Amino acid sequence: MIILGVESTAHTFGVGIVTSDGAIVANVTDSFTSTEGGMIPHEIADHHKNVAEKVLAKAFTDAGKSWSDINFIAYSAGPGLDPALWAGYNIVKEWSEKYGKKIVGVNHCAAHLSIGAVWNKMTDPVYLYVSGVNTQIIVQEGGKYKVIGETLDLGLGNMLDKFARLLQLGFPGGPKIEILAKNGKYVELPYVVKGMDVSFSGILTKIQQLYERKQASKEDLCFSVQETCFAMLTEVVERAMAHTEKKELLLVGGVGANKRFCEMLNIMCTERGTQFYNVPMNLAGDQGAMIAWEGFLRKDTYSDMEVNPHWRVDEV
Ligand code: ATP
Ligand code: FE2
Repeated sequence: MIILGVESTAHTFGVGIVTSDGAIVANVTDSFTSTEGGMIPHEIADHHKNVAEKVLAKAFTDAGKSWSDINFIAYSAGPGLDPALWAGYNIVKEWSEKYGKKIVGVNHCAAHLSIGAVWNKMTDPVYLYVSGVNTQIIVQEGGKYKVIGETLDLGLGNMLDKFARLLQLGFPGGPKIEILAKNGKYVELPYVVKGMDVSFSGILTKIQQLYERKQASKEDLCFSVQETCFAMLTEVVERAMAHTEKKELLLVGGVGANKRFCEMLNIMCTERGTQFYNVPMNLAGDQGAMIAWEGFLRKDTYSDMEVNPHWRVDEV
């Protein structure tokens, strides 16, 4: 079986093609970017409409496949930005009608988790999902995902993006902050862990103030925000692993591309005699291959469901 997956929950439009044994044969993305930072919803929707055919054509070329090889189309039904989701859904609907393919709506967050698990050939890890919108610690119980810890306010990626916007680093900000952090030293910031949950908004306010009052350099703030937020998540995840007695940790989501974050989690896992896994760069952020794979796993449960902007992973 060959599945075509379409991602369009936020700034990335992606088309991936996977086979039912978990092989990724194409994974093409085109992301809306802006130098001033931020995401303007209608511009994102226009972007997706404009690049869709080109991204699809490249995916078919990379895979050496055409519509006749595709068994069905999976698409990201949510969660996400309403205009981006509708843009993606309308494109998928058009392809579905034109080429006579069934469509399967899937949960974007569950797709991040399942592509990481199949890539690493793992069955039952503690998942740490850190992206733009989401920061969650998730485990599977009785076939359902259960969120056992999460941010009480901003997702870490969005928080980093907001700070990067103030520093005029452009969007997405996480990678730029990672580069600046290499030349920074530690300044003290609030450390906010509440049980299994974390909070980032107070830290954001603090670093914005320190920057505006010129009390710390860009580099020091980038270094310190990384060290603080990554340490908070490492602490909570360590507790999750201790409680659940699971032996594997899987980091997914765009912030998972950060090398320092991976290093800290890897040290924690090694010290506990457990194993840390992440996903390669091209599978960490949003892309279509994860949607295709999640579609394969859910093909008998889900079908055309239009869009669902607030669909939580624990509702899957
Ligand atoms: P979600 O999956 O919750 O819908 P999303 O689609 O916005 O959110 P991803 O594409 O998974 O999320 O991740 C994007 C985020 O990852 C952005 O906030 C970006 O700044 C952050 N990011 C990307 N690379 C890095 C990096 N090297 N260090 C830190 N953050 C990073
Ligand atoms: Fe995502």
